[in-house]
Amino acid sequence: MNKQPIGIFDSGVGGLCVLKQIRERLPYESITYFADSGNCPYGSKAEDEALDLARKNIEFLLELNCKLIVIACNTVTAVAIDCFRSEYKVPFIGMEPALKPAALQTRSKKIGILATENTLNGRLFKQTFDKYAHGLEVFIQPGHGLVELVETGGQNSEKACNLLKEYLLPMMEKGVDTIVLGCTHYPFLKEMIQTVTKNSVTIVEPADAVAAQTKRILVQYELISMAGNDPQFQFYTTGKKTMAQKILFDTIDSPYGLEFIEI
Ligand code: SIN
Repeated sequence: MNKQPIGIFDSGVGGLCVLKQIRERLPYESITYFADSGNCPYGSKAEDEALDLARKNIEFLLELNCKLIVIACNTVTAVAIDCFRSEYKVPFIGMEPALKPAALQTRSKKIGILATENTLNGRLFKQTFDKYAHGLEVFIQPGHGLVELVETGGQNSEKACNLLKEYLLPMMEKGVDTIVLGCTHYPFLKEMIQTVTKNSVTIVEPADAVAAQTKRILVQYELISMAGNDPQFQFYTTGKKTMAQKILFDTIDSPYGLEFIEI
């Protein structure tokens, strides 16, 4: 058994939806989460800048002895995961734009994708699109401003409602019945999305598939922690600890051994 922590990072608190699923599937794992909220958002930054920030996050987690790194950020996965896999020895898990499950679920054959600009422009998205979008009409929508709202606790605000109406109603008028959330911050807007769409669309989010893949890789590399391990949980942020704490406590039922560190 390997007791080293799993490292998870995101441009901010969005990756907590991935952390939640990982805790459910892997209850004996220690986890170190790094939220780069002080530099958020990454989705509209120049690719090189996002890549440099992500590299710093990885170095930070490796210093803390993480055995595997989950890039809980679609933007970083899109621009840099291949590069990091060849640069570092630890296994990496990334976010995949969930086009495959959306293609299986849609009845109207019309799906919408809400993601950051860098994710939508990335090679990974194009590859996934070429593989799974045959026979589908796909409506792509950058979610400008949504990440910032989630980071500041504004997911239920009027501004969030208005932005989501602007982004989603036009694609719904075209017959979209399935919407892919292509950014880890967007699941925090799920309730508002359900309100705006009057519960008439299927919302596809990849966090649980990422947790399942994390478990497969831990088993494959013989890195898994098992019953008997006393899991520790550390949360580092370059932003404000209080905001992160609020979002974390809203997301996770009973955080064990919780330690918050503002850096
Ligand atoms: C962002 O920082 O702009 C969003 C992160 C993501 O794509 O998941």
